[in-house]
Amino acid sequence: ASGCKIGPSILNSDLANLGAECLRMLDSGADYLHLDVMDGHFVPNITFGHPVVESLRKQLGQDPFFDMHMMVSRPEQWVKPMAVAGANQYTFHLEATENPGALIKDIRENGMKVGLAIKPGTTVEYLAPWANQIDMALVMTVEPGFGGQKFMEDMMPKVHWLRTQFPSLDIEVDGGVGPDTIHKCAEAGANMIVSGSAIMRSEDPRSVISLLRSVCSE
Ligand code: DX5
Ligand code: ZN
Repeated sequence: ASGCKIGPSILNSDLANLGAECLRMLDSGADYLHLDVMDGHFVPNITFGHPVVESLRKQLGQDPFFDMHMMVSRPEQWVKPMAVAGANQYTFHLEATENPGALIKDIRENGMKVGLAIKPGTTVEYLAPWANQIDMALVMTVEPGFGGQKFMEDMMPKVHWLRTQFPSLDIEVDGGVGPDTIHKCAEAGANMIVSGSAIMRSEDPRSVISLLRSVCSE
């Protein structure tokens, strides 16, 4: 896809220095930041919530784009607090809500872009009815909950199908994406690329980010 964007996931960064880690990613050429919110209920892990986002916004200024990946039950609960804290996009899980339509509307009314995520076990047909109302579809390429897992190549048909049906939709992949797997994501049609450990563990995040972007944009 032309014009791929790279959004590092800071989940596996040094969380005691989160602001500095985000800055390091932005200085290394990140197009946006993918911020993983986990509630210990929707997924078996806990990270952080809107107070941390508010602090990051203060430290990083108005420019960086915050894509909030909300791995939480009852995502309705955090729309307003996240908007107030400075989130730009609210990406919720289809599996976590009974009423995606109302949630989409609420996110827009709070001035944020809308992302809709599906777990590996959810078929893409469930997402399709909402595709014309959202800004971005997130096709998970690992079970959400932890960084550093193995990329699930068998999710690529979902990406390809969405790309075929909705040519102008932003499509994000998340989980196990790095220099070894970016080709598959690009070929399938993803244009928003989340990468956590592959960037964080590198000595040279700038070159990993630019490699991912150039392969994806071929
Ligand atoms: C997993 C998170 C991902 C994860 C990506 O639940 O949603 O954003 O941090 O990290 P890597 O690239 O290491 O799989
Ligand atoms: Zn994520």
